[in-house]
Amino acid sequence: MDRIRIVGGNALNGIIPISGAKNAALPLMIASLLTSDTLTLENVPHLADVEGLIRILGNHGVDIAVNGRREHQDGSYSRTVHFTCRTVADTTAPYELVSKMRASFWVIGPLLAREGQARVSLPGGCAIGTRPVDLFIEGLTALGAEMEIDGGYINAKAPKGGLIGARYTFPKVSVGATHVMLMAASLARGTTVIGNAAREPEVVDLANCLNAMGAKISGAGTSTITIEGVTSLSGARHRVLPDRIETGTYAMAVAMTGGDVTLSGTDITLLDTAIEAIRRAGAEVSAVEGGIRVIGHGDQIRPVDIVTEPFPGFPTDLQAQFMGLMTRANGVSHVTETIFENRFMHVQELARLGAKITLSGQTARIEGVTRLRGAPVMATDLRASVSLVIAGLAAEGETMVSRVYHLDRGFERLEEKLTRCGAIVERITD
Ligand code: UD1
Repeated sequence: MDRIRIVGGNALNGIIPISGAKNAALPLMIASLLTSDTLTLENVPHLADVEGLIRILGNHGVDIAVNGRREHQDGSYSRTVHFTCRTVADTTAPYELVSKMRASFWVIGPLLAREGQARVSLPGGCAIGTRPVDLFIEGLTALGAEMEIDGGYINAKAPKGGLIGARYTFPKVSVGATHVMLMAASLARGTTVIGNAAREPEVVDLANCLNAMGAKISGAGTSTITIEGVTSLSGARHRVLPDRIETGTYAMAVAMTGGDVTLSGTDITLLDTAIEAIRRAGAEVSAVEGGIRVIGHGDQIRPVDIVTEPFPGFPTDLQAQFMGLMTRANGVSHVTETIFENRFMHVQELARLGAKITLSGQTARIEGVTRLRGAPVMATDLRASVSLVIAGLAAEGETMVSRVYHLDRGFERLEEKLTRCGAIVERITD
């Protein structure tokens, strides 16, 4: 199993190209199930989750052609992938596949809308809480589907003539359930109005792509989304939006190690709340042409309290990284997690590097320390593992992060991007 060895202490200086967003690419790829034409996606990141979903979609009959990667001057790659699902080969998503990646559960929306039925295993994914699927069941039921749980699977069946547009308000904000409702309602008869919809930029990206395919969606990015059903969707060409979580992660890394880095190919407006928190912590962050410039001052980090919330609040996917940053703050800060109940697995690993963190319910109290010391640590989930990398970059001596397959799910060429900016990071393949 691969490990990542980090020797901390170097400031980061240079350019880090930001990849296409994993969390946008996954639903966009799944949207290819809605049409028999070709959906072409540009800026598709090369990540374990994306490759996993490519295999899963292949199982459903999607033909996939990957167009070579082009290297740009700043070291970035660009990958264009063509997805064509002439006919759906299989409406079942088996446990072996869905359990590896929660997002693959989302095929339930397009399969139900296009084929009138789906049998999808209940999901697995990151071990960061129970992550139920009640909102998907309720939402699709509102569109007229019959939903039944049987032997670890959900059997979904649309009424004769297809799904029917409806008004449905989510009792809780869910990104995935919003994606699924957008896809399902696009091919339903009549109009659907979704209340309390997720407002994440990835939802807007999916809506833009579906509209390019011929859907009639308005209001994405607000809490109320209206979808006028159409009888069929066509192909389209769409560019995956930049990864705001990767952007915020590297911005926090610079804030922590010190240095001057331009994050290229990204957009500051995708993560206002996180940028504000990074600024309050003392780093200078500004929009520059084609990206964001971050200047960090390493030793002068100010304590900042944050609470995770659905967009536009502070993203849960940056919580672990921000806690990493706060371990070196000059004072006490608090990090409160409100989205997932079990998302503090990084706390004990950060403690191995010398961090002083105490947990009380959903709030972590972090007492900043003047220095962290490298140690062997273990990655526990995707975002937690990158917080250990960031902390390792700022720690004295060597940090060895094991179980890095979690990192490979969501961070493209991490060690290369950091090394180009002066960090000492290497992958060790045993
Ligand atoms: C997506 C992101 C993930 C991010 C999360 C929250 C992808 C591939 N993943 O995950 O990185 O951390 O949004 O921003 O885009 N819930 C229910 N019932 C449901 C569905 C969800 O109670 O049927 C709960 C979840 O347990 C959680 C909350 O709703 O507490 C938010 O989850 P959700 O927004 O659905 O997360 P995902 O879409 O799985």
